[in-house]
Amino acid sequence: MKFNNVDFDTYFKNYPDKNGYFGKYGGSYISPELQKAMDEITEAYFTICKSAKFISELRRIRKDFQGRPTPISHLERLSNSLGNVQLYVKREDLNHTGAHKLNHCMGEALLAKFMGKKKVIAETGAGQHGVALATAAAYFGLECDIYMGSVDIKKQAPNVARMKILGANVVEVTHGLQTLKEAVDAAFAAYAREYKDAIYCIGSVLGPHPFPMMVRDFQSVVGIEAREQFTEMTGELPDAIVACVGGGSNAAGFFSGFLNDPVDIYGIEPLGRGPKLGDHAASLKYGTEGIMHGFNSIMLKDENGEPAPVYSVASGLDYPSSGPEHAFLHELGRVKYDVINDEETIDAFFKLSRLEGIIPAIESSHAVAYGMKLAKQMGKGSVLINLSGRGDKDMDYVIEHFGMR
Ligand SMILES: Cc1ncc(COP(=O)(O)O)c(C=O)c1O
Repeated sequence: MKFNNVDFDTYFKNYPDKNGYFGKYGGSYISPELQKAMDEITEAYFTICKSAKFISELRRIRKDFQGRPTPISHLERLSNSLGNVQLYVKREDLNHTGAHKLNHCMGEALLAKFMGKKKVIAETGAGQHGVALATAAAYFGLECDIYMGSVDIKKQAPNVARMKILGANVVEVTHGLQTLKEAVDAAFAAYAREYKDAIYCIGSVLGPHPFPMMVRDFQSVVGIEAREQFTEMTGELPDAIVACVGGGSNAAGFFSGFLNDPVDIYGIEPLGRGPKLGDHAASLKYGTEGIMHGFNSIMLKDENGEPAPVYSVASGLDYPSSGPEHAFLHELGRVKYDVINDEETIDAFFKLSRLEGIIPAIESSHAVAYGMKLAKQMGKGSVLINLSGRGDKDMDYVIEHFGMR
């Protein structure tokens, strides 16, 4: 299948190219010191991660430790409440630690082990990636430093406790806005100092090459399973698939299974309180091309061209850019990117809980809300939604800010 002259039969062979570009997006814009470390990871990825030994070990871990494959559930009551379209969810909420993040953390930490590294380093905002990486580090017996802004440490106390219980060292970042952007800066600086003994494990399909490719490939297990399970369950492909997009890791892995199929694909960004800059984090819809955290993509900028402050009810979607592959798929028109606001998100959070017995993460609720909208528009057919995580972490926040509905 071709889209704007890009052949999706051979897409994964060609994208990214050897310098990490998806069209004009991606690449590696970092200091020569850090580049040396990235080159080491790239080399290790292409040799170690493609070896039969690595692949069979990761497969075993996915099954015995993570609990994969995660199932697909048919949302019968929710579908009936909306009309004739049948809605389904891929249950990443049932992956160990309650979200898709562990899929790439186990891959990254296994690579660290194969490379003989002693430590994994990462940033975290909401704490979900930090918890997943701390879990992987405990499993493999690696040291783990998680950089986190002071503001986020206060906001995400339960996840900070989880990381500490799992044995991770949470390093407080006290400069600037003391949130995710500063945490990434601090983690990169630490990595430049420690790369001989440590490996950086980024939290999404972001950062310099090879991370956007590597994280997508580790997450592709979601798309591979989903395609096979859905066709076995229904005898056909879904008409449409939907995932939320923060940095874009759950979406990249899920979409990868369907890019070459006659399936409509939707990536959903958070519209938050509305379209005014500062009230949302919909970078692909409202942003422009720019470089941040070592990669070229579409980002939201302030009047000085710096990353703009962003907002979303979902901490995991609260980032002023998206992965370079999403910028590329957006430009090609292969994936349609659209938005869902806070109100629609909270409505979907309660609908899925009440009608199906599944409490979704607020991030994932954006995708559920869009799937519900599509169901009303399409009139017939099927929609498969990636339920990227469970909502236990969000219950107190939702009740405090939006009330019990
Ligand atoms: C449950 C869940 N879904 C989605 C996301 C967004 O990340 P990404 O866009 O990389 O999948 C997060 C981030 O923390 C998350 O916790």
